[in-house]
Amino acid sequence: MLSPGAVGKPMDRVDGRAKVTGSARYAGEPPVQNLAYAFIVQSTVASGMIRAIDTAPAMKAAGVIAILTHENKPAIVQPKPDFLTGGITAEVRLPLADNVINHAGQHLAVVVARSLDAAKHAASLIKIDYVSTEPLLDFLAEGAQKNAPPSFFGDEIQATLGKGGRGDVAAAMKAAEVSLTETYFTPAHNHNPMEPSATTAVFEGDRLTVYDSTQWVTGTRAVLAEAFGLPRENVRVICPYIGGGFGCKGFIWPHTILTAMAAKLAGVPVKMVLTRQQMFTSCGRRPPTRQTMNLAATKEGKLLAIRHDTLMAGSKIGMYMEVCAMGTSRVVYDSPSLEFTHEITPLNLPEPTFMRAPGETPGSFALESAMDELSYKLNIDPLELRIRNCAKDKHPFSGKPWSSYNLLQCYTQAAEKFGWKSRNPKVAGTKEGDLMVGMGMATAMFPGVRFGGVARIKMFADGKAILSTAAHDLGTGAYTVFAQMTADALGIDPENVKVELGDSILPPGPLAGGSNSTATVSVMIHAAAAALRESVGAVGVRGAGLVSAVKATGKPFVEATAPGVPGPELAESAFNSFGAHFVEVAIDPLMPRVQIRKVVSMFDVGRIVNPKTARSQGIGGIVMGIGMALTEETHHDARSGRIVNNNFADYAVPVNADIGPIEILFVDKPDTKFNPDGVRGLGEIGITGIAAAVANAVYHATGKRIRDLPILPDKLL
Ligand code: MOS
Repeated sequence: MLSPGAVGKPMDRVDGRAKVTGSARYAGEPPVQNLAYAFIVQSTVASGMIRAIDTAPAMKAAGVIAILTHENKPAIVQPKPDFLTGGITAEVRLPLADNVINHAGQHLAVVVARSLDAAKHAASLIKIDYVSTEPLLDFLAEGAQKNAPPSFFGDEIQATLGKGGRGDVAAAMKAAEVSLTETYFTPAHNHNPMEPSATTAVFEGDRLTVYDSTQWVTGTRAVLAEAFGLPRENVRVICPYIGGGFGCKGFIWPHTILTAMAAKLAGVPVKMVLTRQQMFTSCGRRPPTRQTMNLAATKEGKLLAIRHDTLMAGSKIGMYMEVCAMGTSRVVYDSPSLEFTHEITPLNLPEPTFMRAPGETPGSFALESAMDELSYKLNIDPLELRIRNCAKDKHPFSGKPWSSYNLLQCYTQAAEKFGWKSRNPKVAGTKEGDLMVGMGMATAMFPGVRFGGVARIKMFADGKAILSTAAHDLGTGAYTVFAQMTADALGIDPENVKVELGDSILPPGPLAGGSNSTATVSVMIHAAAAALRESVGAVGVRGAGLVSAVKATGKPFVEATAPGVPGPELAESAFNSFGAHFVEVAIDPLMPRVQIRKVVSMFDVGRIVNPKTARSQGIGGIVMGIGMALTEETHHDARSGRIVNNNFADYAVPVNADIGPIEILFVDKPDTKFNPDGVRGLGEIGITGIAAAVANAVYHATGKRIRDLPILPDKLL
């Protein structure tokens, strides 16, 4: 009964039935009795302080159990950031630390009541006397203070992220036959996962159980344990299912800590679910960026210089930096000179954070738009310019050899499938009736990321197995692909594998971020499978032989636990995923709404474990990228700093009617240096490059170069 191999098969999601029948429990529906409900009171001013807060009338309202403010909060301690074994609070400032107000929407009080309605009503009765000061809200303001980015990664890493280079860009720019200097803008974005963030906290003596919508139960546990002065084993964080995160559930946000503080103060289990409006200020955003690109080239189109300077909006309460050049200008093309810088303007706005391909998403809009502009200056086909310059021999910044490199195949095969050859090189030269039609392309890129974790495999005498690790399925298919990889590691059918994730009592798993999970867990699974074989004296044996060896022990099951950690291979090779997007747009000049008629994208992300879930990931990234290209933009009021479009009517994410056919192709060659299954993650690469591909197609259709996202109709009139 040796399985012919589950990896590579388009298996249906193993959690599909639980999800569509509603038996999959999310953080907002915890199996907890005697629940009280929490509602947050948020600051209506962006800068200043609380002079006085009057909770007395609210305390008298029906059903109210407790009201938490900075004046009566239980003492908590500042958790130290710990990326490897612990967690990281997204905001450096602890919730309710003092009476200082850093942004509109800051949490100022939490009402706990017997019902959500009672909590909301009482919240409306709380009177706050503010001292309001002039907020800083414009990251481009003349003379605004700029910070060299601080760091939770440590100074050394941060220095290489923040700023660096080689060669002499200024000299190359001066000497070059063709050069370009352009500035690009990307707005603030919000993640908007379908499931809002939610936390339920239950204190039983010195034990704390938390149901939380998080991409990192292990990290959330570490932060809560440290904050409340509890040993880690006394804290349990549970999150078996997530309705999307995209980064806004990666680090630990104030609402999670606040819910535990409220439960402690109230002495009852407390549940808090953020409203859609609260999501816009409570769990991060992609910061707006201004990016200036300098490119220089020979007239044959060989790059001589790349300079990529980023200024972004930051907050007063965190350390997040959007590293726009790191995975883009530093990685994709070969150039003898390269410089990059990142700067932050700290503002009275919510703290930004990781959002799907942080850095690469806005960074690729600037780089891939600039490359397109350069191609027209050189009169070289945009695809050809990229083929001439892509760094195929080695990582252009670190100099390490690629573990596996197939970008040229992505360029040529996707171009062929799309019909790039039929493109009329003339700008604004293709019409279909009244419609202007254009084709654009861009490179996609994302690093191969692998963290560490521990897996446990339990194998039963009947041949069934359970894989357990505190990793996560964000809604992406991890339960399914982990079952497939475990099945192959043991040589059994995936139907016989059960996967347990998202609970901090399981062996520690990685943060579900940076598209790392499948690559990280592959190493963990194979290590645990090898340990299991060894423990039953069946080294190298899979399938029926392994089941017999388990049976021969006479025990009902055998289990083995093993870590999978980054090894020396990560220092020897450069691991990176690449891809190519091709986009066709049609635009009616009288009502210039950009219509996406067709997208063909091809990615090299190593081996494809499951073509069905992989395709969905590709489509999801591209749809989010189309949102970025055409509609998505978080606006704040220029005087008050309040978010003015904190709802799905005004913050427009794409719907089915906005999206044409999307075709996803994969190279599907195993990157065996990376992990036993040869996989690199694919949660994020899809969104990279897509906004530039759309903008490039819009330019080709109309002759209008939009350097300021989103591409709204008024910018094309
Ligand atoms: Mo992703 S932005 O690493 O959750």
